[in-house]
Amino acid sequence: MMKMAVEATAPGKAILFGEHSVVYRGPAIVLAIDKRARVVAERTDDDKIFFDALDLGFSGFFDGETYYAVNGEPWRGRRLLAFMVAARKTMEHLDTESGLNITIRSDIPVAAGLGSSAAVSVATVAAVGGALDGDLSQEDICSLAYEGEKVVHGTPSGVDNNISTYGGVLRYERGRELERFELEGELLFVIGNTLRRRSTKKLVDRVGRLMEREPELVDGIIDSIVRTSENGLEALKEANLNRIGDLMNVNHGLLSALGVSISRLDLMVHASRGSGAYGAKLTGAGGGGCMIALTDGENTGRIQKAIYRCRGEPHVVNISYEGVNTRRLD
Ligand code: PMV
Repeated sequence: MMKMAVEATAPGKAILFGEHSVVYRGPAIVLAIDKRARVVAERTDDDKIFFDALDLGFSGFFDGETYYAVNGEPWRGRRLLAFMVAARKTMEHLDTESGLNITIRSDIPVAAGLGSSAAVSVATVAAVGGALDGDLSQEDICSLAYEGEKVVHGTPSGVDNNISTYGGVLRYERGRELERFELEGELLFVIGNTLRRRSTKKLVDRVGRLMEREPELVDGIIDSIVRTSENGLEALKEANLNRIGDLMNVNHGLLSALGVSISRLDLMVHASRGSGAYGAKLTGAGGGGCMIALTDGENTGRIQKAIYRCRGEPHVVNISYEGVNTRRLD
């Protein structure tokens, strides 16, 4: 078989409405953002899977399940486990065995709730599939990437690998088919990264404990978030920026009530609103990670500055309707 290098790219994501409530009931509304993971895969003649994670400054290879560091500390291999599993599952699916050189680059901040891990898994499956001359459908790519994600994240909801594969806007609810939307008109957002890493599991557990202590109260908050998400989706479909903004603000207040915001997120949210954002809220699990503000061309610069002043890292993002894509490099 001819050796060829194949590059695949896949988008990250931001949750616009419904984080935490989605664990209990109702929808989460998730956007693919125009920040992407890029993976290049190439066959090699041995049976090892070599990874070069250029952005993160480490590289190494898996011989079977064992990681051997070439650059950087050996524990860093844990980060690569999901991608190794995704690559192996792809080979199994295509009934092929080969060594691989896999190079990862990404402009999606890591461990910030922006779906960087799933985007790399999705792009890895697509790039490996391409390098092995395999024929993978989008469904194949999505489910093979999920296999990798499961190894590292237990039983993730499946939102991240879906949004990375298909792009656009998704309505996700447990036990229901995913719905994908294309919105009229463009929406512009500024994402502010607190640069504080956090664990989704710990924050979901924290809300769970509050639910155990104050079930009626927390149930009421969850109901309100569900209503906010349903109304939010309507507002998105109407392209009603003022209404989307109001609902983002309400959603942030409800997430704060659940105890998942932190002062840096609150500061950035309020600074963005004060700089002309239609609305702003934390996005993802909270406890650090990111906030998201809805803006228009006019106020974007002011909001970016406001986020800088709060010692956050601003990123201007659009919704990306381009899911995973692949191209041959030679
Ligand atoms: O991991 P994140 O930051 O994308 O957040 C996940 C969203 C939660 O609702 C908090 C958890 C979940 O599994 O839905």
